[in-house]
Amino acid sequence: MLYNILNHSHSGLRWVLILVFILSLTGLYRVAFANKKCYSAVKRLGLITLITVHLQLIIGLILYFISPLVIFSSSSMKDSVLRFYLVEHISLMVIAIVLITVGYSLSKKAEDEIKGFRKQFWYYLIGFLLIIVSIPWPFRNLGAAWF
Ligand code: HEM
Ligand code: HEM
Repeated sequence: MLYNILNHSHSGLRWVLILVFILSLTGLYRVAFANKKCYSAVKRLGLITLITVHLQLIIGLILYFISPLVIFSSSSMKDSVLRFYLVEHISLMVIAIVLITVGYSLSKKAEDEIKGFRKQFWYYLIGFLLIIVSIPWPFRNLGAAWF
């Protein structure tokens, strides 16, 4: 029951995350490189992205210990699906989430706001690309669905 709720939330939240990422990357690009002045909207989008990514981290961490696809055994390494959920998905996603948190934090602390937005743009972009390549898209045959 709990597993089902969390699994569906985790799966559905990916789409929310992709949408807020596209919005915040577009906004960051506009303030960082195109002289647009919509700072407060971009800051809010950056924060919404950070919160969504942290929420995904919490749900993912719980799933990690209750999912039937995560089996703590050395033989899991020989199976590409079990290895994906035991090692690949969690490690790349955690790296991506750390990059996003650092990018947010550097931007918040920056004295020059434009320089802060530039850094945040690059950290968010790399984090976003890592997330996209680490999602178990159905065409990768990892037993996951589109939604
Ligand atoms: C394992 C779980 C989590 C970890 C390790 C974590 C880690 C962090 C870290 C290190 C920061 C500091 C960023 C900074 O320097 O400003 C932060 C900020 C934040 N996180 Fe999380 N977080 C987690 C879960 C969550 C959850 C579940 C939410 C909400 C749904 C959340 C919302 C936020 C918010 C709102 C901020 C502050 C943004 C600000 O400074 O304005 N986090 N988190
Ligand atoms: C932004 C980050 C993340 C995204 C976008 C994401 C996305 C996804 C998606 C789309 C699935 C497939 C769900 C399905 O259709 O069955 C999945 C499965 C899973 N994720 Fe994540 N994930 C993220 C981060 C994490 C993290 C940090 C962890 C662990 C700490 C984690 C643990 C898991 C586990 C254990 C499963 C397998 C669940 C199952 O099917 O039993 N995820 N993730």
